[in-house]
Amino acid sequence: NKTIIVTGAASGIGAATAQLLAGQGAEVIAVDRVQPAAAPGRFVQADLSDPADIRRLVAELPGGAHGLANIAGVPPTRPAAQVLKVNLLGLRQLTLQLVPKLADGASIVNLASLAGMGWPQAVPALRASESLDFDGVEAFCERHGIAGARSYFFAKEALIAWTHQQRWAWRARGIRMNAVSPGPVDTPILGDFIQTLGARAEEDMRVMDRPGRPGDIAPVVAFLLSDASAWVRGANIPADGGMHAKLLCDMH
Ligand code: NAI
Repeated sequence: NKTIIVTGAASGIGAATAQLLAGQGAEVIAVDRVQPAAAPGRFVQADLSDPADIRRLVAELPGGAHGLANIAGVPPTRPAAQVLKVNLLGLRQLTLQLVPKLADGASIVNLASLAGMGWPQAVPALRASESLDFDGVEAFCERHGIAGARSYFFAKEALIAWTHQQRWAWRARGIRMNAVSPGPVDTPILGDFIQTLGARAEEDMRVMDRPGRPGDIAPVVAFLLSDASAWVRGANIPADGGMHAKLLCDMH
């Protein structure tokens, strides 16, 4: 059986993914800041906005895992620095520190977002963020005008760009990384998006036939974690009821 580490497993998309993987026979290690009500498998508590806690988590996790699903995230209603810490820096640090402990052939999946599809327009700031660490977040946000909901967009843009960049980073060990980008999904943070994005979120909701459900996203993550997706590498797969396609068609 495969051992798969799922962050953000206490709620929403992470909980649905943990459940689906366990149902498929995986040994799931659930990681979250809060204790899941009903997580399958083992639970390890960690705050992914805290570099010391991430180091402790990596030391605690067993070696030889076959998959890492980076799903934990916070919505744009949170302070900009916190959004960058959890949604980008914590994810990146956990991944980079965990890779040496993963099994050869392991698969890493990052939960990005439709909010990150504009990454090619933000390349200079994205490049600057490659060397960003936890201590420099506030100054970085100020220098690059990242405030309010922009922090969420920026973190997801950087995550997609990083996923593309890392396409062959661990090729010698057969380790690959991909992203999944949902549109609006009905989880506890959907209201946060509607609150911060206002008219834009309402327009998105109007043109979709329905918002996504965690169960629409979990199977896409599970596919990318499975050997069936071995030829998918450095990719970002939208799972958004057609929103990505709509925005691309509107743009060009
Ligand atoms: P959720 O709020 O239901 O789940 C997020 C989980 O992450 C929670 O269990 C929370 O405790 C955990 N978490 C937050 N901060 C943490 C920290 N510092 N350390 C450890 N765990 C932490 O939200 P949802 O919707 O399931 O979101 C999952 C991912 O999907 C996020 O990365 C989000 O940005 C992304 N996403 C969500 C969309 C939506 O409309 N719900 C749309 C596109 C992407």
